[in-house]
Amino acid sequence: MIDEKELIKVLQKKNLDKYSNEIMEDLTCLVRKALNSKIKEIKNKQRIIYNDDAKIHFNAKEILSSKELDSLPSWVSDHIETAQIVGKSKKVIQISNGKKYHLSNRLNDLAGGEWTYFLNSVISTRYPTSGEESYAHHIRKIHPSPKPPQLMEDIIKFFTKENEIVFDYFMGVGGTLLGASLCNRRAIGIDLSEKYINTYKDASKYLELNEQKTICANSIEFLTDKKKLNYELKDEEISLILIDPPYGDMLSRPKTGEAVKKGKDTSPTPFTSSTDDLGNMEWIDFLKIFHKSIVNSMFHLKQKGHIVIFIKDLQPKDKELNLLHADIIYRLNKIKNLQYIGTKIWADQSVNLYPYGYPFSYVSNQVHQYIMIFRKE
Ligand SMILES: C[S@@+](CC[C@H](N)C(=O)[O-])C[C@H]1O[C@@H](n2cnc3c(N)ncnc32)[C@H](O)[C@@H]1O
Repeated sequence: MIDEKELIKVLQKKNLDKYSNEIMEDLTCLVRKALNSKIKEIKNKQRIIYNDDAKIHFNAKEILSSKELDSLPSWVSDHIETAQIVGKSKKVIQISNGKKYHLSNRLNDLAGGEWTYFLNSVISTRYPTSGEESYAHHIRKIHPSPKPPQLMEDIIKFFTKENEIVFDYFMGVGGTLLGASLCNRRAIGIDLSEKYINTYKDASKYLELNEQKTICANSIEFLTDKKKLNYELKDEEISLILIDPPYGDMLSRPKTGEAVKKGKDTSPTPFTSSTDDLGNMEWIDFLKIFHKSIVNSMFHLKQKGHIVIFIKDLQPKDKELNLLHADIIYRLNKIKNLQYIGTKIWADQSVNLYPYGYPFSYVSNQVHQYIMIFRKE
């Protein structure tokens, strides 16, 4: 299944040909696993199509009202000529490749299988940081913690429909805004730093994506005046608030651990030097101000709209637990009309592991972040 000669050529170039047997065995095992899972997936698809064939079918174009036709996601309407309504309930539309969409879906444009896939409580990724698949990481990396646009796109696609509005008031170099452009949503971003906003614009140009609306401001202050965001929204409402706030004052503390051991520069790398920067605040102050920003931004969120927040815990220290995510859930769940509905864990497998604590004690490599999900009731 794998061309051994090709593999040896590649390994020779890297002076690794003595490992060819070991690598060949591993690759064969991986390919076999991938093949088996693909075969299962295709058989499953065939079974679903076969089962549906046995059910009642109607021509979708004939049976749906013009309002229903207008509200279909583009991946369905692009195939409307051959699309079928399947089953007695007349609520499911199927296109020729077997993909199905539920006509009562008010949340997103996903097919049933895609919906289920997103419900996994863990997302484990290894997004490339170079080449085309890195989404201009070489431009965005001036920021200490840029989010991968592909990850943000997946979240946006679950919590919104095409053309709806996403709001990120800690936009940095625009992981959320790029993600929104990738899936044809509109977005508004705010950051304190003009440098980060300009970097987002450069990345957007480089990727030839639609540039989203950006505002350079202290978002906490901006949100206290409802008229300001109303003006930008022009009577529309936000469907998703997707934010990745500073993780307490983690970056504004001197570095410890591996940096110290390797004699590297241990000076802090805060996002900005501004006292308005939530990354330069004590955790207790952060919680208060962050809470206020959520209450103010919720005013512009549609009913049943979602707030999705990224956060990373700090290492426990003495008797301090430093469970930042738990503090936020506890605090925000007290807000009237806001309901905490669950968490996803993002495991970023591209993070390097270090032998922290070796050879004395356990200190975890925190490669995961919490994606906390709230809904406006
Ligand atoms: C964790 S980063 C967000 C990174 C972003 N998700 C990305 O993909 O680049 C947090 C951002 O919040 C910004 N920030 C901190 N306090 C702020 C405030 N009061 N108003 C607006 N932006 C703020 C920082 O400048 C920083 O870029």
